[in-house]
Amino acid sequence: MSILIKGGRIIDPSQGIDGKGNVLIENGKIKSYPKTTKKYEGDLDVKVIDAKGKIVSPGLVDIHVHLREPGFEHKETIRTGCESAAAGGFTSIVCMPNTNPVNDNASVTEYILLKARTEGIVNVFPIGAITKGELGETLAQIGEMYEAGCVGVSDDGMPVMNSKVMRHAMEYVQAFDIPVLSHAEDKDLSGSGVMNEGEVSTQLGLTGIPCASEDVMVSRDITVAELTGSRLHICHVSTAGSVRLIRAAKKRGVKVTAEVTPHHFILTDEAVGRYDTNAKMNPPLRGKKDREAVIEGLKDGTLDAIATDHAPHSEDEKKVEFDLAPFGIVGLETALPLSLKLVEDGALTINQMISKLTNSPSDVLNLGKGTLKIGENADVVIFDPEQEITIDRESFHSKSKNSPFDGWKLKGKVNYTIVNGEIVYSG
Ligand code: DOR
Repeated sequence: MSILIKGGRIIDPSQGIDGKGNVLIENGKIKSYPKTTKKYEGDLDVKVIDAKGKIVSPGLVDIHVHLREPGFEHKETIRTGCESAAAGGFTSIVCMPNTNPVNDNASVTEYILLKARTEGIVNVFPIGAITKGELGETLAQIGEMYEAGCVGVSDDGMPVMNSKVMRHAMEYVQAFDIPVLSHAEDKDLSGSGVMNEGEVSTQLGLTGIPCASEDVMVSRDITVAELTGSRLHICHVSTAGSVRLIRAAKKRGVKVTAEVTPHHFILTDEAVGRYDTNAKMNPPLRGKKDREAVIEGLKDGTLDAIATDHAPHSEDEKKVEFDLAPFGIVGLETALPLSLKLVEDGALTINQMISKLTNSPSDVLNLGKGTLKIGENADVVIFDPEQEITIDRESFHSKSKNSPFDGWKLKGKVNYTIVNGEIVYSG
């Protein structure tokens, strides 16, 4: 079956395209941009999608997702995580290794990829661990995981505290031209902190995690990347200090890229409110100045990508005292409308926003995705940026519902998600 997407506004930053047109998909690939559509419209083998008033862009790419399988299938499985991605407009997702067992060897990588092939409905790219068991001590089987299909390494969820181990990892990955993805956090500075250290934590009587906990490690990792010449990617940037350090490092020519989550550019630590565990994540929601700084970082190119850090946790796990709840919130099904808010507020153009969710994250990990170039696999999202929606956690496709955005009225409705020329979601 071929698909003709008719009359939409095609925005593809990878090719500098922004204009009204048609997209023809054949045999799973982008075939052409036909000038006229008449000859396809009566053809029973062509499904015609009317995209008038909608945006047609490359399928979204999320380079920071926790799929939880193997080991934590009560929170999410590869199948439900992919369904959640498709519902959010994502056609490619990158999954972090903090599963059980940890993805620190080729057999776990192969298991994830097999499951993704048989049960997943979007493209799945695994990240391997930097160290065995994410314990920060001995390097994991990075070469074998790369051969098996890992596109980068990270101990996400856990920082690599030992600088010498980080140095070895950065030296080692260069053989495969993949980056080290850093969960930049000084565990000692974070201590038993559960939210941002500041006025709000004091009022609530909760132990804080200072911004310095992130800044110190971003600084360390940039220094080690400079020493080794390695590619470094900083995950979930949350502080003004990190943005400053990354900006300066990029200026010096350090091979550093970075991402920011929608929750860090939309919310501040005020969202913790009355101990809402759905506003608890790591790094924590920060203050107003930090929020402004990450938005500025997105604007000026210091931050390359918007990534969700989709971190599903079950209702039971989150329905406990704030101190005891696990860190993390789901994000795949709210990322697009939250990102569109940046456009509405005039912080980014729609083209910039789409780039931060398509070609730019793809480039960070050399995924070869995030484009509508002729001949490429047809991964496409069609969405209405103006349609009003109300976030309803009960309607999430994810197994978990831990979102602080439940009930929010936003704009941006995903109409179709297409992966390899197949419609995997229509809403
Ligand atoms: O909030 C978070 N949750 N931050 C992380 O780094 C890990 C993640 C998780 O795995 O739940």
